[in-house]
Amino acid sequence: MAPQIKTREGKKGELFSEDKRKLDVRTSNIEAAKAVADVIRTSLGPRGMDKMVQCADGEVIITNDGATILNKMRVTQPAAKMLVELSKSQDVVAGDGTTSVSVICGSLLNTTLELINSGIHPTVISDAFNKAQAKSLEILKDMAIPVASDDRESLIRCATTSLSSKVVSQYSNLLSPMAVDCVLNISEEGRPENVDLRNVKIIKKLGGTVDDSELVDGLVLDQRASKSAGGPSKVPNAKIGLIQFCISPPKTDMDNSIVVSDYTQMDRILKEERKYILGIVKKIRASGCNCLLIQKSILRDAVTDIALHYLAKAKILVVRDVAREDIEYISKTLNCLPIAHVDHMKPEKLGFASMVASTPTGSSSVVKITGIKGKGRTASVLMRGSNKLVLDEADRSLHDALCVIRCLVQQPYQIPGGGAPEIELIRHLKAWSKTLSGMDGHCITAFADALEVIPYTLAENAGLNPIQIVTQLHKLHAEGNKYDGINVRKGTITDMLKEQVVQPLLVSSSAINLASECVRMILKIDDIVPVR
Ligand SMILES: Nc1ncnc2c1ncn2[C@@H]1O[C@H](COP(=O)(O)OP(=O)(O)OP(=O)(O)O)[C@@H](O)[C@H]1O
Ligand SMILES: [Mg+2]
Repeated sequence: MAPQIKTREGKKGELFSEDKRKLDVRTSNIEAAKAVADVIRTSLGPRGMDKMVQCADGEVIITNDGATILNKMRVTQPAAKMLVELSKSQDVVAGDGTTSVSVICGSLLNTTLELINSGIHPTVISDAFNKAQAKSLEILKDMAIPVASDDRESLIRCATTSLSSKVVSQYSNLLSPMAVDCVLNISEEGRPENVDLRNVKIIKKLGGTVDDSELVDGLVLDQRASKSAGGPSKVPNAKIGLIQFCISPPKTDMDNSIVVSDYTQMDRILKEERKYILGIVKKIRASGCNCLLIQKSILRDAVTDIALHYLAKAKILVVRDVAREDIEYISKTLNCLPIAHVDHMKPEKLGFASMVASTPTGSSSVVKITGIKGKGRTASVLMRGSNKLVLDEADRSLHDALCVIRCLVQQPYQIPGGGAPEIELIRHLKAWSKTLSGMDGHCITAFADALEVIPYTLAENAGLNPIQIVTQLHKLHAEGNKYDGINVRKGTITDMLKEQVVQPLLVSSSAINLASECVRMILKIDDIVPVR
């Protein structure tokens, strides 16, 4: 239908027409946001395409993750930027479903454009969408199936669904249990809201395949053990000290220069230095420490060659260049305290592990600390991959899987995937809209129809006939098969629960929530005011 534009009769010579401009701003906003959604529509689902993203600095990444693609996109239009933000918020809230949320938002925007063009006021549309959103959440909750947080099999199934659309989906046999174990390791019983994924450390190492990745029961450090002075690279029954002070000669605050005029003076300086360092090493040794993790210092060398020499003689394994931001994680894992001064080097501050060993991994090596006494609630994953592109994508995919498990721990409900929830939403929303009067009913029917984009796109991306599949799905759902969805591998419609394609309720509900919120926000903008 042609847009109904009410043009105001202006004064003579006045060309400005307020309503047309507002309509233009709204239309251009919606079109821009839709264009962004269209870009990633093809990557939805297990048969979706991947994207090769080329950054301005020449970096190339291959990914299927909606949030990553949108994040890297150089978008300038403010409304289009809102879509990028939308995908980011989904990433924060749920971690998965970042493609779905943008696709749903794009489809809803398309619908609003039609509704506006048919003469409905944006505020009316916005209010109706708000009601539809609330009702959708109820419908989803009704069809959800509870999952016990110790039901490992169900958790693994959800992780597998999330991984099935990724580049590394062939490794989901390994990665799904890994993700489940990681989250179960870090979650505290009775406090489901306390799952902090920062407690999962993923160390990426080139070489090998993703199959060689492992969840280490202990701690993995990216650094190698310092061997230049001949120190040990393996220590059983380790007493580990995490130190933040330097084992090197002190420096003055200002620039200084010492003029040495003869050899005896030079000898004295060197002797003093040796004495000073030996004093520190003796104190370390006296505490019983035989493995030292040294924080990187920006002011001076954290450890000098002479210090390494003495430490090697004392048979102390040294790992240097531990990053400041890792200290908290390490001290939590090892159940030890970071030590800021050598005088505080006390046995009670050390951590205990049955084995610390530097293991060659690919082109470099990592230090593995296993058998930790009183290990904190953390998890370490050593991720391997044959090239950087795969390695990075495996990392992102594992992050998605971890988020899915976190969702299930926080809200223990799962729903079937493959378009089943969307079809069910459409059916219930439409039935509900018939009971409403006024514009609401019309807008809610349109809202429901917009959700069809998910099953439609899943079928389209899988090379199936989308219209046929979606119609068939509607029929089956009307007959009461509410778990039926698209089986993309067989190209038919099957019961998604039997196929074990399940996803967390939180992912779908937050996608609907955030998408409709974003649409309502874009809808209410009627002008762009540039400010310098
Ligand atoms: N084996 C499967 N069969 C059918 N549908 C599936 C299967 N696995 C996943 N899906 C569906 O694919 C959709 C998810 O696709 P995908 O993982 O590509 O996007 P996303 O989760 O929205 O975003 P992202 O993973 O990029 O953050 C969901 O609707 C899910 O139900
Ligand atoms: Mg996904």
